[in-house]
Amino acid sequence: MIRSRFITVLLFAIFISVYSLTPPAHAKEEGKLYVIGMGPAGPDLTAPKGLAVLENADIFLCPPYIQKNFPQYINPAKVAFDPWEGIHDEEAMKLRKTDYAKWLQRVEKRKKKVFNFVMDAINKKKTVVMLDSGDPCVYGPSLYWLLKGFDYKYLEVIPGISAFNAASAALKKPMIGEGINFVMLTAPHSMFGRSFEKGDDLLKDLSGYNVTMVFYMAISSMDRLVEKFSKYYPPELPMAIVYYAGYSEKEKVLKSTLGKILDDLKKTDEKWMGLLIIGNAVK
Ligand SMILES: C[S@@+](CC[C@H](N)C(=O)[O-])C[C@H]1O[C@@H](n2cnc3c(N)ncnc32)[C@H](O)[C@@H]1O
Repeated sequence: MIRSRFITVLLFAIFISVYSLTPPAHAKEEGKLYVIGMGPAGPDLTAPKGLAVLENADIFLCPPYIQKNFPQYINPAKVAFDPWEGIHDEEAMKLRKTDYAKWLQRVEKRKKKVFNFVMDAINKKKTVVMLDSGDPCVYGPSLYWLLKGFDYKYLEVIPGISAFNAASAALKKPMIGEGINFVMLTAPHSMFGRSFEKGDDLLKDLSGYNVTMVFYMAISSMDRLVEKFSKYYPPELPMAIVYYAGYSEKEKVLKSTLGKILDDLKKTDEKWMGLLIIGNAVK
């Protein structure tokens, strides 16, 4: 009798200690930061893996324009803050032009805020998501500015469809092949500097190849681009701008040439949501 009671107590003790050492199935083992490429428009062009992470996320860091395109995936109550506030709005863009050092100080301050916030959440085993439009590795500001030096151990990047992919689809043309040597992804400031003071040698060399050139963030400086390209290319050089690529209601394709593009641009006011593609692929 005493012996069977002893065995029952022993088994109970073993059960309790094993149970208390094993976390319940739903408990998270550790916190993590995901940078998710949200694609060029809404959820229909976001990777299912990215959408699945959104559904289980505890904390969102995202700007309002992304939130607007994903109302069914982003619970406003879970949005902690917009990581880009004070860095990417109109006033900040002016500051960046007039006082770059001061703008960089703001970025550094923001970077610290994001780092402290995210690490605190990760230590509490939370899943934090930071959302970038398109693909985070193509002019995605999160990885480039705010997360530089962030410990890879806590980070996963989920790729997204870039504006380039959506724009190529809108043009219904292959961007490589058919004698084209390569595709180049760039932006006016990457190739020519912020005041268009460099890049002439590069452009001259490129003019000897059959290249598809893709320019992000280019429409607002089209006049400076035309000036540069006119030095090395004929007026017939094919150019296209795809506005709001991937947006079913707003997508628009403008096909033009180096000689005509400035006149053609007078028909539209949009200066940001358009991708410039140059070369025989867009003929
Ligand atoms: C900061 S970059 C972000 C690029 C983004 N990470 C991507 O992979 O598409 C912003 C620029 O991308 C281009 N862009 C972004 N979304 C676009 C869209 N849906 N249609 C056309 N261009 C777009 C525009 O040139 C815009 O000025």
